[in-house]
Amino acid sequence: MAMLNSTFKRPLSITIANNKGGVGKTTIIRYLSFCLALRGYKVCIIDEDPQANTTKSMIITRDLYHEDDDFVLDKTMMAGVRDGNISDLRVNVMENLDVIPSHIDFKKFPTFLNKMFGVAESGDSQYHAIESKKLNYMKDLIEPFKKEYDFILIDTPPTASEWTRTASFASDYVILAFQTQSDSLDGAITYIEEELTELVEKFGAKTDVLGILPNQMTNKGAIDLQVVEDAKKIFGEENLFSNIIPFNKRVQSAPRSGISNEGYWNEKLFANVMEPLTDDFLHRVSIFEGVEGE
Ligand SMILES: Nc1ncnc2c1ncn2[C@@H]1O[C@H](COP(=O)(O)OP(=O)(O)O)[C@@H](O)[C@H]1O
Ligand SMILES: [Mg+2]
Repeated sequence: MAMLNSTFKRPLSITIANNKGGVGKTTIIRYLSFCLALRGYKVCIIDEDPQANTTKSMIITRDLYHEDDDFVLDKTMMAGVRDGNISDLRVNVMENLDVIPSHIDFKKFPTFLNKMFGVAESGDSQYHAIESKKLNYMKDLIEPFKKEYDFILIDTPPTASEWTRTASFASDYVILAFQTQSDSLDGAITYIEEELTELVEKFGAKTDVLGILPNQMTNKGAIDLQVVEDAKKIFGEENLFSNIIPFNKRVQSAPRSGISNEGYWNEKLFANVMEPLTDDFLHRVSIFEGVEGE
């Protein structure tokens, strides 16, 4: 097992973003968190998507490591958010990896924020004050336990919303996922232009883009290199992850079988998809952050 070979100077929270669905956000969270934990990094996933796809696969993964006790959801994310404490919701998946599970009732999050802080449209005199409180609410919920981890990885639903805004605002970095065969590049551009820029310029978010990560989601012949070329032109080559996540049928079974690096197909997936992604990720983080002891 590859062990921790570098430590970063601060705990890092990272959101996987794109204003389009089905681009691989959840897939990236699953594999990155698993591999980072195996390498000795302490990782916590926060699932901010009420569809709870990450949660479901992580609970199945948890059952692979905790054979004799069944998972029971004691308290939902929405209940924790209402109580002002999500730290108690943490569920251990495996050594070094925890998850804060989502649940369908987290759909009520925007309504909760509206009731708590009020509603204002961009342009209203109260907009900045109200929106700032909403944005800081999730950030403040994460802060008490952030230092217990090397990485906090936040999964979000696919549309620009209070979920994605609060997650980005609470993050040191975002990774922009896009799939090579679609117009999801537009979703990445919209995210930067309409969402991230406002958070940084108007609300003082300290969020930086860690990189643009292409994912090949079909095996229809060659990779759509044109989309990758377009991404390089738009964002600059240095802002793209060096590896494209390759198409791999096995990726689609993770939600049902959990994440593992054992067995023939899992070993292949681990070697061909998960490990290169993790190497690329850590390489980028060390460029942005430097490494402890330097
Ligand atoms: N590289 C890949 N190879 C094969 N299937 C993939 C790949 N990446 C994602 N998928 C599949 O595509 C679907 C959408 O991916 P997902 O990670 O759930 O996207 P998102 O979270 O952005 O909505 C899932 O069924 C997933 O298994
Ligand atoms: Mg998802």
